[in-house]
Amino acid sequence: MSNGVALDIQGLSKQFKGKRGLRVEALCGLTMQVPQGEVFGFLGPNGAGKSTTIKCLMGLIAPTAGSATIIGETIGSVESRMKVGFLPENPAFYDYLSAEEYLQFVGRTFRMPDDLLARRVEESLRLLELSDARKRPIRSYSKGMVQRVGLAQTMIHDPELYILDEPMSGLDPIGRALVKDIILDLKKRGKTVFFSTHITDDVEKVCDRVGVIVKGRLMALDRVETIMRSGIEGYVVQTKAGIGNHTALASFGLIRSSEVFREYSVPAGRFNEFTALVSHHALEITLIETKRKDLEAFFLEIVENVAR
Ligand SMILES: Nc1ncnc2c1ncn2[C@@H]1O[C@H](COP(=O)(O)OP(=O)(O)OP(=O)(O)O)[C@@H](O)[C@H]1O
Ligand SMILES: [Mg+2]
Repeated sequence: MSNGVALDIQGLSKQFKGKRGLRVEALCGLTMQVPQGEVFGFLGPNGAGKSTTIKCLMGLIAPTAGSATIIGETIGSVESRMKVGFLPENPAFYDYLSAEEYLQFVGRTFRMPDDLLARRVEESLRLLELSDARKRPIRSYSKGMVQRVGLAQTMIHDPELYILDEPMSGLDPIGRALVKDIILDLKKRGKTVFFSTHITDDVEKVCDRVGVIVKGRLMALDRVETIMRSGIEGYVVQTKAGIGNHTALASFGLIRSSEVFREYSVPAGRFNEFTALVSHHALEITLIETKRKDLEAFFLEIVENVAR
């Protein structure tokens, strides 16, 4: 039973034997869950342990300790594999095949009936904008097209969960936007998406929650919305010049002033005081801009703290 949990990871750890017998702690006791229907961003710098985690989940490498289930099925089992659409870090294909042939091949490994497979191949090619190149061998594709074939093959069996290792990597801004749209569309259809990235912008746009992994350890896990809201540092507020008594606002930092407006820097904790003064002194607010610490600043702070 999955009880609405798509991914349940308990104390997952992986040690590699590095050079000169030195052990590399690639992943240390990762514990987390992803509920069904969520888009989860697994954010971490290079070498953080993202791909190691994903390879463990897909049964490609054995964890040193810990366990995990995918929609209630133990990782490494055939049943768990059937429920996932998986995009590896550097997808390599039989590149003498065309995208269409490759997708048919993947569908057959999932034992899909021919008519359903034909429909799903059509749909995946269309979604990933590969219809025109469908008959050409993959070796003639650009890097971005190859990445899109990788994404198309994750969808072929219409899985419940998508595990994507850096799905936006190697794509131009148009390709990135396409992938983001596809992820949001999967969410609308009730699917669960777990994807890794080191780019905070990708997370900000599409994820419900984000986990930050650094040096094999989960350093933060929260709703993206909560992080963004807690990052509000203050406001830039513009008032109309020429009406009301502006001297009442003298204790706020004046950023700019012209014949038309005055612009103040208002700390988050003094916003109510500011608006109370505005209404009391017959002033008029014309614009409010939020000054926030974005997800990137949040991420960099964590990474820098770990490095210290
Ligand atoms: N087969 C291996 N043998 C030895 N060390 C390994 C092996 N695979 C990974 N590592 C080490 O484990 C750590 C985590 O690597 P991993 O590939 O999981 O990072 P990542 O977060 O996916 O990074 P990137 O953003 O660069 O893809 C790194 O220090 C890496 O060198
Ligand atoms: Mg990786």
